Amino acid sequence: MNIIKVDDYQAMSQWACQHIIGKINQTNHPVLGLATGSTPEGMYQCLIDSYQAGFVSFKDVTTFNLDEYVGLAIDDPNSYHSFMQDKLFNHINIREEQTHLPNGNTKDHQQECKDYERLIQQAKSIDLQILGIGLNGHIGFNEPGTPFTSRTHVVELDPLTREANARFFNQKQDVPTHAITMGIETIMESKEIVLLVSGANKAEAVKRLVTGELSESFPASILKQHDNLTIVVDQAAAVHLN
Ligand code: PGA
Repeated sequence: MNIIKVDDYQAMSQWACQHIIGKINQTNHPVLGLATGSTPEGMYQCLIDSYQAGFVSFKDVTTFNLDEYVGLAIDDPNSYHSFMQDKLFNHINIREEQTHLPNGNTKDHQQECKDYERLIQQAKSIDLQILGIGLNGHIGFNEPGTPFTSRTHVVELDPLTREANARFFNQKQDVPTHAITMGIETIMESKEIVLLVSGANKAEAVKRLVTGELSESFPASILKQHDNLTIVVDQAAAVHLN
């Protein structure tokens, strides 16, 4: 485990952006695992700026996102499909058929989970997975108690997660109760993982990850078993780390 401490959100975003550009430029047909939420937004803006400045091309890039809400139409403003279009895909030269998110609005969610897993397997493995961490230690939408052996599956969202994400919705009741998420084992099969952590509200979570025990009650704890994990943490989130 490699821990990189940076000053602030902007420095974290820049680091992640440059790392992704390096990975894209060094890899033949790179496969990226992408995340949503507030954490990676600055990184996406930096990727857009870098693309517009001619420093990176997404022509040969394939992406797989971690998760999607169940029950939201793909074009719902709060869907993660919409998030990715707005924050990244609409502004770069990536081909639509090379971007993947689970569809949370099908008739058969179990089949969708199987299909998503199959797509990831067919793409070889994910070269670089970007992750955020939930206040409760979730990765993707793998909430506490999710088996470490899980593959892509439907989850019921933890009340803490629904509360944390309510800021994006008109009212708390509008936050979906379920989601489809890449499984923990699926995430762990990525060749490299970069976990981004910013802000004082994440300080306890990153401390527990770094110093705590391996436990399914804190899903991110599995990440320490990965042999190519980098945690990029800003000062506010690193206050409890030595
Ligand atoms: P955030 O979410 O980036 O919006 O803090 C991270 C997460 O819940 O995984």
